[in-house]
Amino acid sequence: MKQKITTPIADFVKTYAESNTCRLHMPGHKGKTFLGCEAFDITEIHGGDSLYEADGIIAESERNATELFGTVRTLFSTEGSSQCIRAMLYLAMLRKKEGKRPVVVAARNVHKAFIYAATLLDFDVIWLWTGENAESLCSCYVSPATVEQVLKKNKDSVVAVYVTSPDYLGGQADIKELAEVCHRNGTILAVDNAHGAYLHFLESSQHPMDLGADICCDSAHKTLPVLTGGAYLHISKNAPKVFVEQAKYAMGLFGSTSPSYLIMTSLDLCNQYLADGYRERLQRTIDLKKICARQLEKAGWRVRKSDPLKLTIEIPSGVSNCELTEKLRKYDVECEYADPDFLVFMLTPENTEDDLQQIVLALGENQDSYQVKEQLPVARTTQMITIREAMFAAPEAVSVKQALGRICRVPTVSCPPAIPIAVPGELIDESILKLFEYYGIEEVDVVRL
Ligand SMILES: Cc1ncc(COP(=O)(O)O)c(C=O)c1O
Repeated sequence: MKQKITTPIADFVKTYAESNTCRLHMPGHKGKTFLGCEAFDITEIHGGDSLYEADGIIAESERNATELFGTVRTLFSTEGSSQCIRAMLYLAMLRKKEGKRPVVVAARNVHKAFIYAATLLDFDVIWLWTGENAESLCSCYVSPATVEQVLKKNKDSVVAVYVTSPDYLGGQADIKELAEVCHRNGTILAVDNAHGAYLHFLESSQHPMDLGADICCDSAHKTLPVLTGGAYLHISKNAPKVFVEQAKYAMGLFGSTSPSYLIMTSLDLCNQYLADGYRERLQRTIDLKKICARQLEKAGWRVRKSDPLKLTIEIPSGVSNCELTEKLRKYDVECEYADPDFLVFMLTPENTEDDLQQIVLALGENQDSYQVKEQLPVARTTQMITIREAMFAAPEAVSVKQALGRICRVPTVSCPPAIPIAVPGELIDESILKLFEYYGIEEVDVVRL
């Protein structure tokens, strides 16, 4: 279905690029071709608009995005969900009570941007875990009942509940129930929806804004045809009024004063893309993925339940992820992510049917068995100092073998998925060491003694 939507940023940039104006302003390339896109790479010139004080073409394009996503307010980010995550948590901090240290209740599989936000904003975290064992560093299902218990015990200090959904493997949280629990207990639900911008356009929306969350970020660049860095901060009708009032300020606080016009133009064009038959193209891709998943299952691969645009394969026992990714490369296939347990492909309607068949061809018949895997330990250790104190402490790099009993200084992650095993300020104990080893971490940055 085609919906009429304007593209004010793209139109302005194109007209300027064609105008032969002497560019006696930034950027220094002056529109000459080095990479190829310079003619369209402008700054806040006359007639343009300024992202953090938008009242012209950028404001119009953001209004278009707001309408397309059905939110109260959608804002553009040119610095990814990372910028939006800091802004979301800054807004949550506006809810803190006088004299109380603010606390965010968070499912443990956060992206490291969350840890950086905790450093800048100096809040404490109550971590939520799935259970006593973990299936993967990437997933952390938390039950609404657990969240409710935590909220009842910490009423005065909690400023937000924060979950990552979809996660890197495509696992999805129960956003509807979590939102209800949050609202019933006087707090808000913030969602890292970096992997799920497209969820609003499904036949039945699975987007956090439609399921009751108050605020969320989407990395437009991860699942939509947007240049890397393009993202959205969405605010829902449930959210406190101050979120809408302070959202631009919050984004500006964590963003460059030179946001990329190329990225904003890309977000602007994406509005038109979403309005023009996207739902149908998305559904077709999902149908193709289902066919591909069935073919892989027939060939002996286990396909994990995931969000509709991810194809997540369980790696059989005794097979290394490097072996598999090398095998894929021989067929010119590059996946999104592989760890000792899972292989993740990310699809969009820009993938062709042939791309999907290439996965089937490259993986071929699985010759290996799936044995019951040893469960990973939950790295539930003691927070010795705050995240901020640790991040500002003097550094010392030690090998993993020497890290036992030391305090983690910076988030210890492999990227992707950029999910910390040890969080700054935590005591590194045996369970954390085991996870370091499992995920191939060799060196750790600890607080100097
Ligand atoms: C779950 C999750 N959240 C946040 C981010 C950060 O997003 P961005 O790269 O758009 O800043 C990522 C990036 O991979 C991610 O996987």
